[in-house]
Amino acid sequence: MNIAFVGCGFVASYYGDTLPNHPELRPLAAFDISPTRAAGFSKRYNIPVAASYQAILDNPDIDLVVNLTPPASHVEVSRAALVAGKHVYSEKPLALEPAGAKELIALAAKQNRLLAVAPCNFLGGSMQTLARLVREDVVGTPRLVYAEIDDGPIHQLPYRTWVSSAGVPWPAETEFTVGCVWEHASYEVGFLTSVFGPAASVTSSSHTLVTEKMEGIAPQDLGPDFCVGLIRFRSGVVARLTIGTVARRNRSITITGDKGILHLPEIWDYEAAVQFTRSRGTTANPASPLLRVTPPATAEPVAADKPGVPVPERGIQVDTPAGGPRQYPKAYRMDMSLGLAELAAAIREKRRPRMAADHAFHVYEILQALDDSVAAPGDRKITSDFAPIDPMQPLQTVASDCTISW
Ligand SMILES: NC(=O)c1ccc[n+]([C@@H]2O[C@H](COP(=O)([O-])OP(=O)(O)OC[C@H]3O[C@@H](n4cnc5c(N)ncnc54)[C@H](O)[C@@H]3O)[C@@H](O)[C@H]2O)c1
Repeated sequence: MNIAFVGCGFVASYYGDTLPNHPELRPLAAFDISPTRAAGFSKRYNIPVAASYQAILDNPDIDLVVNLTPPASHVEVSRAALVAGKHVYSEKPLALEPAGAKELIALAAKQNRLLAVAPCNFLGGSMQTLARLVREDVVGTPRLVYAEIDDGPIHQLPYRTWVSSAGVPWPAETEFTVGCVWEHASYEVGFLTSVFGPAASVTSSSHTLVTEKMEGIAPQDLGPDFCVGLIRFRSGVVARLTIGTVARRNRSITITGDKGILHLPEIWDYEAAVQFTRSRGTTANPASPLLRVTPPATAEPVAADKPGVPVPERGIQVDTPAGGPRQYPKAYRMDMSLGLAELAAAIREKRRPRMAADHAFHVYEILQALDDSVAAPGDRKITSDFAPIDPMQPLQTVASDCTISW
């Protein structure tokens, strides 16, 4: 699959660093309105620089445009690619306004082209393992999810020193003005919707708690740095979602069901171990072939003196990549190019992609509801729908010990 990158900034290196995991992706061109950025990316990853974006659009050999420009340019860049008959993979968010999001979805359908929106972390090994354990009834009926994407107090961290592998600085101003909802919520919402189906409503409240983050940005131009939302799924599951860049770092997800609790401590790690704890009072062993249950050798005192408190789990399983270790960017074990590979496979196989436009729009609608709560906290109905998403092919899987600890 011949691809072209548009936007050679900070995140472009996350794609460049993980391209070797997917040799079927052939990068033919890269373009940035900054010639220096384009040249740096080209040199680092050995991808030819295109003379202009139009040159990419006019190149019949390029099948897929990867839009890595800042959020405010997403609609313009994706629109031009779709009009030119290219498939599009866009960094999140799809758009910053509903009209733009709707226009792109309609345009992709009209052009008979696929449009996918990052992030693809719900396709990674850890989240696929988590989803599989839910499907295999390990927690019984899921009731409640705590989904956290607190990215730490970024304004107190040395963010001015953060640079990508190609030497591009982290775009602090854009990140602070766009805010935590558009920047981060989809890492949790993409997964939640892929497992629990469409949402019915979102109740949320968003705030800008730190107004003096960076010199030169007026408080009214800052996006939210804290948002808490309650997502009610049509399936009955309720998720409490916290997103922020003020509190201590916590990018985890905990799914509580009638039979047990599943916990993934780090959703930005495609190889993080998934932890399982059986519910208090449940005697049945989980039936999943991923878990091999070993009864505790001795009575564990914690359950007696701290009733209701789960002992840290030792039963852990994660699908691990077959075919050797993956390459990752230096900061996270996240394979950003996995989404490109999935989209490319769907194009090749003429099948529905797992990162489908209807799902992207549903995620967009939830994010819009969360972000609207900056202006007015409250309850918003979610009306869009999407077709169920097939699981990825399971990766290499070896059953691991699961010590019941309640
Ligand atoms: N920064 C992160 O940690 C991070 C992580 C994941 C995803 N993202 C997402 O990736 C996208 C890009 O973020 P980034 O951090 O790389 O930003 P960035 O500002 O570092 O890079 C964006 C690049 O796009 C270029 N550009 C702008 N308009 C263009 C246009 N019309 N045509 C061609 N090039 C254009 C800019 O010159 C810049 O080099 C955003 O949507 C962001 O939400 C960022």
